[in-house]
Amino acid sequence: MNKAGPALQWGGRFADAPDAALLAFGSSLEDDLVLAPFDVACSQAHVATLAAAGIIDVGTAHALSSALQAIADEIPSGEFAAQARALGAEDVHGAIDARVRALAPAAGEWLHAGRSRNDQVATTLTLYARDRALRGADLCERIARFAIDSAKKALRDETVLAATTHWQPAQAILLAFWLGAVAEMFVRARRRFGRVAADAREASPLGSGACSGSTLPLERTIAAQELDFAAPSRNALDSVGDRDVALDVLHAATRAVVAASRVSEELVIWCTPAFGYARLGDAASTGSSLMPQKRNPDPFELVRAAAAVATGTYASALASLGGVALSYHRDLQETKAQVIRGTERGLAALAAFAAALPHVHWNAQAMTARAGDGYVVATDIADALIAHGISPRKAHLLVGNAVSVAERDGRALGARDLTALAKAAKLKGVLKAPLEPLASIRAKKTAGSTSPEAVARALSELEAIL
Ligand code: ARG
Repeated sequence: MNKAGPALQWGGRFADAPDAALLAFGSSLEDDLVLAPFDVACSQAHVATLAAAGIIDVGTAHALSSALQAIADEIPSGEFAAQARALGAEDVHGAIDARVRALAPAAGEWLHAGRSRNDQVATTLTLYARDRALRGADLCERIARFAIDSAKKALRDETVLAATTHWQPAQAILLAFWLGAVAEMFVRARRRFGRVAADAREASPLGSGACSGSTLPLERTIAAQELDFAAPSRNALDSVGDRDVALDVLHAATRAVVAASRVSEELVIWCTPAFGYARLGDAASTGSSLMPQKRNPDPFELVRAAAAVATGTYASALASLGGVALSYHRDLQETKAQVIRGTERGLAALAAFAAALPHVHWNAQAMTARAGDGYVVATDIADALIAHGISPRKAHLLVGNAVSVAERDGRALGARDLTALAKAAKLKGVLKAPLEPLASIRAKKTAGSTSPEAVARALSELEAIL
């Protein structure tokens, strides 16, 4: 008789029932219900291993398999979650075990042979990491492709704007170049997710047991193959406590959302009337309950905050792991909860970001109208002096003086400034330098620059990578 309760997988050695408050404190069910499909897969693989070892007969294997399939069918509708809560299980693993015993009472007694929740948690969490890494990679690819397609269009239109550093006008760029930068970030984010998915295929923890393996003759390659791992893990003590790919998927999600957050920050500002570079369409905007005129870019603000949340969960997950000795200790339950929370929120934010981007409408006129503000051609003029043999230090000083004169007069740099600069620098010939944003952009010569040719090349290279 199990004093701990029918849904718990232990209790024989206890005389007293568990304290209800402590049991509730120790429950991870609400955190790990999302692992249910992965636990079912993991349990099916374990059934195959037990059957191959002759520990269960064909009939038992079949009954277990059918019960697990029935549970898999109950997951999408929420039916399984309701059952799990009603059972009062400690976690999703206990809930599936209890549900199997309810659906197939005799066979259900055998499912956990040679298995511990320790290798089970490690395996299901790895399968989860693999799945979410693939989902994250898809989202990043979608974002990158959208940015590339938008960039190609903006390149045809030669839409220009002033790039800022420190939010101050810096140099003229093509909108296509800005969009290309967004694509670069998400191509890298996609690759990061891809590496995590590959790592999550390497070593199957299943069959490690509690921490040292099993005396039952379990052929671990069976489960490894069923679950699409390259091989069983090499060291049971390590594999039950290994949370590397779990942390890596959260890391990849955090990094991707941080990238999305940086783009969001810029878009939020571009959508203000003061900037007016972009307008977020109705479908992605929200209004105010009080101010009738409002059009708020909430999705991008939420993405910005989601980056902070993901970063926080990553820090929490790492911190919860740092004091844990080798093998399994209960702290790891909290690590898992942080990984799941941060990854789910991060991927939801990435999906929202991908959904909101197509609703951004560029205002090329507003960008172009202000692209020349703030003396964005000053560097090109200094470069032109350098090309005439003037030292960069002197060129910087001369052009800086010219900017200060023009600013005092409330005008842009013009032909007369070039003449004055040529004179001040004692040039033999005339000083030629771009004075307009588009001329500045077209004059760029370096690979990876904002010149239309360099942007076109970068975009086609990115497309080839995708
Ligand atoms: N709920 C636990 C977790 O999520 C399950 C593992 C329990 N293992 C144990 N030895 N108590 O980590």
